[in-house]
Amino acid sequence: MRINKVISLSQFIADQQSKFPGATGDLSKIFRDIKFAAKIVNRDVRKAGLVDILGAHGTVNVQGEEVKKLDMIANEEFKSSLTLGGDCCAIISEEEEDIHHIETTLNQDSKYIIAMDPLDGSSNIDVNASIGTIFSVYQRITPVGGPVNMDDVLQKGTNQVAAGYIIYGSSTMIIFTTGQGVNAFTLDSSIGDFLLSHPDIQIPKDGKIYSINDGIYDRMGPGVQKYVDYCRNSIDKETYSARYIGSMVADFHRNMLKGGIFMYPSTTDAPNGKLRLMFESNPMAFITEQAGGKATTGDGKRIMELQPTKIHQRNPVFMGSPDMVNKVESFIYK
Ligand code: AHG
Ligand code: MN
Ligand code: MN
Repeated sequence: MRINKVISLSQFIADQQSKFPGATGDLSKIFRDIKFAAKIVNRDVRKAGLVDILGAHGTVNVQGEEVKKLDMIANEEFKSSLTLGGDCCAIISEEEEDIHHIETTLNQDSKYIIAMDPLDGSSNIDVNASIGTIFSVYQRITPVGGPVNMDDVLQKGTNQVAAGYIIYGSSTMIIFTTGQGVNAFTLDSSIGDFLLSHPDIQIPKDGKIYSINDGIYDRMGPGVQKYVDYCRNSIDKETYSARYIGSMVADFHRNMLKGGIFMYPSTTDAPNGKLRLMFESNPMAFITEQAGGKATTGDGKRIMELQPTKIHQRNPVFMGSPDMVNKVESFIYK
């Protein structure tokens, strides 16, 4: 029996696609592959405490950071699903130095490129806190069939065809946009499918939560410090709450639903901040803007308008409720 008003992710994508008469259905297939990989990673995350997939992998990723086993597993699982699906011609990943070309017979006519952070918030794996996967979908610029080059992968965020994240939290959700608003689907593990649970998400215009790593306070610029001071000393103004778990997906998700700002500014030792434009900033910026929020580098520049010059480029991030982003920028400009 089909339950009234229950909309599955596949149904939703098919409905969206039917509104575009010229649509080939290839994007739907990309979502099918992402959904499949998400379910596999979800399974592995859920048994992370039971089998030997916890802890450091013993190598460092291209950012020079320690790679956890689950980062590698998630990277392989998404790559495998997207390759076997046949609708993706190249992948760039936080865990890979260069472009991962997919040149099988099945994929030779594919036009989509995926940028992904297969496991975000990896320092939370060992402590059973929420982690996620972030992805962006682009269309290649060069003709299909030929080799994918740097111009194909280094596109501005404004060129994203779709973006989303999966959060492996107290429940597992996929949240995405194809440029027609933001919708969230929650995994019902009893039937093994993602069901529409949060239609047309809107970020509250203003909020009370600020999310920033307080440990880098002394290394932030004076404008951001003043904004943090303003939030801390909010007794006779509005009362703010600091909430920060160190997993962008989880911190962002909370703020999107409740109203808040997520910040990762530049610091004296990291002038471009920590977060990666292609894998973290752009997809989250697309979702933010589609939900009515604002996503900037703190100096009035839209993240999605930055021109990437390298795959692993970083940039400062200020995103969330638009009034809060405007407020912090007013402190930075002072
Ligand atoms: P990843 O696990 O993919 O390397 O990303 C971690 C990122 C992001 O999720 C989080 O917001 C940020 O790093 C936390 O950094 P700090 O520990 O410096 O606060
Ligand atoms: Mn990350
Ligand atoms: Mn990661």
